[in-house]
Amino acid sequence: MLGIIGGSGLTQLANLDVSHREIVRTPYGEPSGPLTFGRLGCQDVVFIARHGYGHIIPPHLVNYRANLHAMHSVGVRRIVSVASVGGIRADIAPGTLLVPHQIIDYTWGREMTFQSGIDGPVVHIDFTEPYDTELRQQLLSVAAQVGEAVVDGAVYAATQGPRLETAAEIDRLERDGVEIVGMTGMPEAALARELELPYAALCVVANWAAGRGDSVHGIRFESLEAVLQQAMGRVRTMLEALCSVSRHSGEGP
Ligand code: HPA
Repeated sequence: MLGIIGGSGLTQLANLDVSHREIVRTPYGEPSGPLTFGRLGCQDVVFIARHGYGHIIPPHLVNYRANLHAMHSVGVRRIVSVASVGGIRADIAPGTLLVPHQIIDYTWGREMTFQSGIDGPVVHIDFTEPYDTELRQQLLSVAAQVGEAVVDGAVYAATQGPRLETAAEIDRLERDGVEIVGMTGMPEAALARELELPYAALCVVANWAAGRGDSVHGIRFESLEAVLQQAMGRVRTMLEALCSVSRHSGEGP
């Protein structure tokens, strides 16, 4: 079963044929909200809004462990994360959709592992390729099928938030090789890997990062909403197509 984690701008999936909602308790506390079960395309899907349904949980307070654990416990076996980001690379303008291929983690103080240090030996997960190669490719081929120009690969920086970055911080990220910046990609991706859940991200560029493009003198929040709303319609179409494709390629619900 496919799990979809929706970020800013995607607190619900309008094209999901909802069957029920379930509050799932986990050893790590409460997920961001009830899990929404339904059918998308021709597949069973579970959806959760990362920031809660009223978009009330800031990135550093999202219970990533509970969200991932809850999804896994109800039978989710792969996850597409939808997230909004700021564009740093010159050709990554607002409205662009991307499937990133790498991550640099700048977050701190978040619960970032399921390993408690008391019940079992230490496990070092391989994280060379933080996103699942096959799921990334599926997203990209679905994009081609529905005629959506989606950028293949970008280095994603996970920053702590909830404030946006300074222009100098964005300069530093760029020197590090970062191309897009968001606040929720970590520890989510690493936790999915710990649970051996194939995980890929579909990112929507909401704005130019601080000091870039029309954000040279500040980020204009007025335009963010419209960009996200327009882009999330395209994301929903892609997700629906992904569910149809996966079904045909033998990936059952
Ligand atoms: N920085 C960090 N996170 C973000 C941004 C940004 O510019 N835009 C959307 N999420």
